[in-house]
Amino acid sequence: MGPARPMGLTVRMDVNGFAEFDFGDARRNDPAAVVDVSPASLGDVAAIISIEQQSRPSQPGPAALDAAVRDPERYVAVASVNGEVVGWGKTHFWDYDDGPAPSGHYLGGVTVLSAWRRRGVGAALTTARLQWIWARAADAWYVVNARNLVSIELHRRWNFTEVARGPTFHTTTFTGGVGLLMRAAPADSGAAYGQVPRQEPPTAGG
Ligand SMILES: CC(C)(COP(=O)(O)OP(=O)(O)OC[C@H]1O[C@@H](n2cnc3c(N)ncnc32)[C@H](O)[C@@H]1OP(=O)(O)O)[C@@H](O)C(=O)NCCC(=O)NCCS
Repeated sequence: MGPARPMGLTVRMDVNGFAEFDFGDARRNDPAAVVDVSPASLGDVAAIISIEQQSRPSQPGPAALDAAVRDPERYVAVASVNGEVVGWGKTHFWDYDDGPAPSGHYLGGVTVLSAWRRRGVGAALTTARLQWIWARAADAWYVVNARNLVSIELHRRWNFTEVARGPTFHTTTFTGGVGLLMRAAPADSGAAYGQVPRQEPPTAGG
């Protein structure tokens, strides 16, 4: 059974599957639980698909996810609480340039179950993937829909800087037509690099 959804919590999502931007402090605090971030195994693929089905209008298929998990050039990470997968993210390696978007390691998407958002799970998944990338390359790349304000806000602490904006980077196109190509290096991130984000669970009635 999944975690109890905190009472009074409304998680809103637009048709693109983006979370709605919360103005003000919507963080949730309960220091009792620990979020574990680890490399995904093939046994996690069903849980990843379930998270995507609950969160996004279109989902990757099991074959694509199996291939990503098996690929040593990519890092698929899952975030778990008490053994339950509550979020996941991946990297992608492009071995060729596409206009302003160079070859290299890119953050390749992150999703957290709506009941577990604003507890640092997305930040924990991003820390783990950036550490993986920066162990292999000087720069980490990130492509985001210009309308996905929550994703842009999530990545702000690593001081990603905009390199270009356009309708497509590598194979990614953007609802609304504009995406941002962003880059960050460990030196840009300063104290945020390796920072352990908040790791808190939802609580019944919380
Ligand atoms: C984006 C997403 C992964 C964030 O996951 P999360 O676990 O809620 O993120 P965190 O709790 O780690 O938040 C880290 C920071 O991001 C920002 N943030 C996260 N959600 C936010 C929201 N709804 N409104 C404003 N800022 C937000 C805040 O700065 C937050 O820090 P704070 O809580 O200390 O203020 C989640 O909203 C999601 O799955 N969205 C749908 C899929 C998606 O758009 N993924 C990203 C593009 S690939």
